Amino acid sequence: MKAIRKAVFPVAGLGTRFLPATKANPKEMLPIVDKPLIQFAAEEAVAAGIDVLIFIIGRNKNSIPDHFDKAFELETKLEEGKKQEMLGIVRNILPSHVDCVYIRQAEALGLGHAVLCAQSVVGDEPFAVLLADDLIDAGERTCLNQMVDIHNHHHCSVLGIERVEPETVNRYGIIDSSAMAERLTKVNAIVEKPAIDKAPSNLAVVGRYILTPRIFKLLEQTERGAGNEIQLTDGIAKLLKEETVLGYEFEGKRFDCGSKLGYLHATVEFALKHTELRKDFENYLRDLTEKI
Ligand code: G1P
Repeated sequence: MKAIRKAVFPVAGLGTRFLPATKANPKEMLPIVDKPLIQFAAEEAVAAGIDVLIFIIGRNKNSIPDHFDKAFELETKLEEGKKQEMLGIVRNILPSHVDCVYIRQAEALGLGHAVLCAQSVVGDEPFAVLLADDLIDAGERTCLNQMVDIHNHHHCSVLGIERVEPETVNRYGIIDSSAMAERLTKVNAIVEKPAIDKAPSNLAVVGRYILTPRIFKLLEQTERGAGNEIQLTDGIAKLLKEETVLGYEFEGKRFDCGSKLGYLHATVEFALKHTELRKDFENYLRDLTEKI
């Protein structure tokens, strides 16, 4: 089995939950304090040994290529102003050995369709998928790092999973599974956004996947499903009839930055860890909580 070298970032969604902020900007460019969500996801992938980042972009997504590209004008200004620290931040968004590829998804036909758009660039090797609006804070050993280890050991597809509140199962891909070891389970079935009374469990797939290339052929045959979209979950449901698919309960904390509340949680917690802001922000929060 080949090493995981490529990661797909579907970023062509419409981001309707964050309108008007996402009218002209992708939701993946929303910052948590001072870093856009997409950069957190890209850094997680690079930390897991990935060196080709494949972005599936849609309308209004120029800011993502711009973000990872060289910014001549800005760099010149910072250089002239002797702002070395800022210059370093702007220049080192990604290490130089990492390549970015941008593929345009002409129509937002769903997550499964977005992943299928990466087929020719991924080719015949296992790859990762990261949904940047699931921000996972796992410290040194990132969520994708942990999943790559599982993949290297078991040589099969691995889904990042988390137990969610039973009343929220209708927001996720939910699995039916048989426990194998601590944090590790074999996926027997998967269903996209089931009604609360139809869910096989409360084990939800979060936005981290390692998939074998077989998924592409299966996605080609996948009809529109939940929300009238071509769902990655439905492709995975076909995959697990042919190959082993594992679910892995990662170590770390997930912030659902696709929801306003989750986004606020992430903003507050990352601000409380931010070297420049931590102290003042902590004091501010203390004063505020006394008043409310
Ligand atoms: C997508 C997937 C879903 C998964 C979720 C994780 O849904 O379709 O299976 O559980 O991401 O965040 P979305 O959040 O795009 O509606």
